[in-house]
Amino acid sequence: MVPETVAQEPLIRLENLNKSFVLADGGRFDAVRDVSLTVNRGDALGLIGRSGAGKSTLLRLMNLLERPDSGRVFVSGQELTALGKAQLRDARQKIGMIFQQFNLLQNATVFENIAFPLRIHGRHRRAEITERVRACAAIVGLSDRLDHYPAQLSGGQKQRVAIARALAPEPSVLLCDEPTSALDTETTRSVLATLKDINQKLGVTIVIVTHELSVVHALCRQAAVVEQGVLVERLDLEGTAPLAPVSALGRELARQVASAQGGQGVVVPGEGTHGI
Ligand SMILES: Nc1ncnc2c1ncn2[C@@H]1O[C@H](COP(=O)(O)OP(=O)(O)OP(=O)(O)O)[C@@H](O)[C@H]1O
Ligand SMILES: [Mg+2]
Repeated sequence: MVPETVAQEPLIRLENLNKSFVLADGGRFDAVRDVSLTVNRGDALGLIGRSGAGKSTLLRLMNLLERPDSGRVFVSGQELTALGKAQLRDARQKIGMIFQQFNLLQNATVFENIAFPLRIHGRHRRAEITERVRACAAIVGLSDRLDHYPAQLSGGQKQRVAIARALAPEPSVLLCDEPTSALDTETTRSVLATLKDINQKLGVTIVIVTHELSVVHALCRQAAVVEQGVLVERLDLEGTAPLAPVSALGRELARQVASAQGGQGVVVPGEGTHGI
């Protein structure tokens, strides 16, 4: 487990973020509206919301893959929104990202895929790279697949390569956008178990976007609900205080947590206390 003192330190701080897109007809769409959010070091936070709610956009604002129109992004105490190109590239080394569709280099082996972020950064000796790639492959259980190409792997194995690649530069946080949506239930379970280990044993903070509440339930200590670009609530899934969700998704999640805990300690406004 991550020590208590470390877990309380903010790793990501979003301040009043706004992001809009210009539409084909010249109109404007507000995808993220005045979102402020803190993610503590060591946390595992699930971002949930309906399709189009703005989850991916919000996640991409955390490493400035999307630039906010206004507001500030801090990671590890550094204001990303104030950095120049080269500094931002360095800061991003500490922010890993994984996607639904894995985004692997098809013509490169598992080894080379994992080594990729270390090679492009150019500051690592060959032996160092080999050692780090082997260590990351071991974390995700792919030590025996280093010479394979992505086409020779299952979906779950591909996502494991993507996780190992994201871990290679020793990030402090892993941003995950629907990482299990392309996987079957059994594979989802094992990939989530790996992510949980990475969070709990390595202390890597995780922010995961998903529309599957079971994913949040399996992995996260915190959940944040996004509706139409607005962060409508945040739930502490492992806290001692009873959950008091206000959004429909929050209530659904609370019900899942309650039934797993034997129905204790959940207050659902307007629906009485659930003591199932
Ligand atoms: N580059 C873009 N140009 C125009 N509109 C965009 C762009 N990117 C996102 N949007 C719009 O912003 C809104 C939020 O998109 P986003 O991808 O963040 O949603 P999401 O919550 O991740 O949805 P999903 O669960 O379907 O992935 C959507 O209505 C989308 O159409
Ligand atoms: Mg999305």
